[in-house]
Amino acid sequence: MTILVTGGAGFIGSNFVLDWLDKSDEQVINLDKLTYAGNLQNLASLAGDARHVFVQGDIGDTALVAGLLAQYQPRAVVNFAAESHVDRSILGPGEFIQTNIVGTFNLLEAVRAFWSTLDAAPKAAFRLLHVSTDEVYGSLSKTEPAFTETHRYEPNSPYSASKAASDHLVRAYHHTYGLPVLTTNCSNNYGPFHFPEKLIPLMIINAQAGKPLPVYGDGQQIRDWLYVKDHCSAIRRVLEAGRVGEVYNVGGWNEKPNLDIVHIVCALLDELKPRADGKPYKDQITYVTDRPGHDRRYAINARKIEQELGWKPAETFESGIRKTVQWYLDHPDWVANVQSGGYRDWVAKQYGH
Ligand code: NAD
Ligand code: DAU
Repeated sequence: MTILVTGGAGFIGSNFVLDWLDKSDEQVINLDKLTYAGNLQNLASLAGDARHVFVQGDIGDTALVAGLLAQYQPRAVVNFAAESHVDRSILGPGEFIQTNIVGTFNLLEAVRAFWSTLDAAPKAAFRLLHVSTDEVYGSLSKTEPAFTETHRYEPNSPYSASKAASDHLVRAYHHTYGLPVLTTNCSNNYGPFHFPEKLIPLMIINAQAGKPLPVYGDGQQIRDWLYVKDHCSAIRRVLEAGRVGEVYNVGGWNEKPNLDIVHIVCALLDELKPRADGKPYKDQITYVTDRPGHDRRYAINARKIEQELGWKPAETFESGIRKTVQWYLDHPDWVANVQSGGYRDWVAKQYGH
């Protein structure tokens, strides 16, 4: 048996591929365009492993995807491929429309064409799992209940709007054509291989480099954090037992203001790699201009996946964040490698230094 994973060289995708092959021998075809966010170094431990076939390419390339589906006959497609960074979507939304909307549409077309030719048994067993985000639901006030799967879509950034559009397309392909789809909407992930444009790895790396720790606005925006391996286990579980056409919210029941996250990271670094001058890393915190249209709070109600599919996160935030900080301390080569020229250009554009 085989599955096709898209975006499997990115943060969550590579964790998923590694986790999948750790737990089963089912072959993974990994289609990834290798944008700035794709990194084959994440998959270095699979070198020479015949269970992993890497293909560089675009989900929007219908002919390429059709060829892969015909050649490998996967029983499932798991779609991680996307432009994923909100700040980049604000500075340049074009790629988000192209990959997240047009790319998903082209992928759906190729998958539909393949699926419609299958014999009855593989056709019934086939699944397309679309990996999406809690950001499609918009922003909550402090007192509003957490997002359920029926919460109205109210995306506020070009990124979340493009993900919302992709979710709608996936839904429509089920309702119109009967394509057996599943959608997961997950909260903020953190863990190994997280690209350092995102809050947690940026703070870990800037802190050690003696650079400012840029907190947007008042730092009181709330996110719900989930260790990436727990997201991977949720996706595996939904693929295994999720009801076709259904949406499953995935989250860690772990809401925290950004400033608390930064303080926790600083305290762990104080313990694991103290500053040479003995001062606390939190002294490096700097308040910077807020993100335009910044969503104030996300919170996920994960009851459906817990009750229906028996999924639960294995990590607490305390255990997951400690593992994460330790992982970055243990992998200076990975960090140096991603801090390429392209990454430096982004930091200069976003933070102005
Ligand atoms: P990422 O930016 O780290 O990785 C995205 C991957 O997709 C990269 O390897 C990139 O090369 C690849 N890619 C981009 N465009 C492509 C294209 N046109 N064709 C093929 N490959 C392409 O993203 P991530 O954080 O790993 O997120 C993965 C998915 O999970 C995304 O769909 C994102 O919306 C969703 N998600 C992310 C989070 C999070 O906290 N990071 C939370 C919920 C959902
Ligand atoms: O909620 C799920 C989403 O989580 C995913 O869909 C996105 O792909 C993923 O990038 C993430 O989006 P966020 O915008 O929440 O993540 P980010 O790490 O960019 O920012 C987290 C919070 O920290 C957010 O409120 C903005 C703030 N922030 C971020 C950066 C990079 C700062 O205060 N300073 C920073 O330098």
